[in-house]
Amino acid sequence: MQEESVITNYHLEDDQLMDNTIRPESIDEYIGQEDVKENIRIFVEAAKMRNEPLDHVLLYGPPGLGKTTLAFIIAHELGTNIKTASGPSIEKSGDLAAILSSLEPGDVLFIDEIHRMPRYIEEILYPAMEDYSLDIIVGSEGNSRNIKIDLPPFTLVGATTRAGDLSAPLRDRFGITSKLQFYTIEELTSIIKRTARVLGVEIVDDAARELAMRSRGTPRIANRLFKRVRDFALVKGNGVVDLEITEEALERLKVDKLGLDNTDHELLLAIIEKFGGGPVGIEALSSSIGEEVTTIEDVYEPYLLQTGLLKRTSRGRIATDKAYQVLGIEKQ
Ligand SMILES: Nc1ncnc2c1ncn2[C@@H]1O[C@H](COP(=O)(O)OP(=O)(O)OP(=O)(O)O)[C@@H](O)[C@H]1O
Ligand SMILES: [Mg+2]
Repeated sequence: MQEESVITNYHLEDDQLMDNTIRPESIDEYIGQEDVKENIRIFVEAAKMRNEPLDHVLLYGPPGLGKTTLAFIIAHELGTNIKTASGPSIEKSGDLAAILSSLEPGDVLFIDEIHRMPRYIEEILYPAMEDYSLDIIVGSEGNSRNIKIDLPPFTLVGATTRAGDLSAPLRDRFGITSKLQFYTIEELTSIIKRTARVLGVEIVDDAARELAMRSRGTPRIANRLFKRVRDFALVKGNGVVDLEITEEALERLKVDKLGLDNTDHELLLAIIEKFGGGPVGIEALSSSIGEEVTTIEDVYEPYLLQTGLLKRTSRGRIATDKAYQVLGIEKQ
């Protein structure tokens, strides 16, 4: 892709640096997701009153909605430490054993992308989650034995964009499961204003709202767009983010009124022009636009489904009438 996409490049380092300064630390600073927050508040308080670790928590939902942020907030609210790992990076059973045995009582262990953990690693987690015990095999073949190590009580917080890919036994061991939702325009407006405040940038209300409307319901995209617009305001204006600068910047960034970028457009156009509006299978769509199936499913589709531009049927994906309208294409 020659065109820089706002959505797919979100793992850039400068963003991560910014992430750390603007990431809310306490549950009161975390905007939106009211149901999830309320539950977590209650469960955290109950765990503290009983002086027991919080039950294991599974957070799922599309990228950039605040799962990692929430995991850190849970540890903050519990007043404990957090250790982090990511599913694909745990390759050997020894890796997980080392992490587990480094935990202090009450700690949070955060495993990101937990659906990408190999199955034999998962199996080590089962007794750890259930009985705080680590069952490992030591020694070589013919001379091996099982040993059992007691672990301190801890809370596993797992995050995933694909809850459906989690095995049933793993899923069942989470006492608390929370699905994060796309944010409303009002919530995103507050998030953008908060970010502006933290970074010491002035932003006008209608500019914040315009950015919010184009952020695909996603705080990470809202913050990222804000940062780009801030640069425009600095170089082309007087540093204040107003509506005019915002609109100009978003046009240059090729983010349309709905927050759709080039890849979203390509995806919808492919369904309409190459596959007669659908239904089309995800594999065919994937090779037609040159994006991985999982990227389409995790990053692009959820928002297109949510906004009613795309429909999933048992026979494949369909572009809706609204998609034709948005793209300005007459339906045949
Ligand atoms: N509720 C919120 N209030 C304020 N800012 C938020 C909120 N949720 C997320 N953010 C901001 O959005 C950014 C992305 O959030 P986060 O990294 O937690 O998303 P994620 O769900 O873990 O994404 P991924 O699936 O890609 O790991 C964070 O830097 C944070 O500043
Ligand atoms: Mg994350």
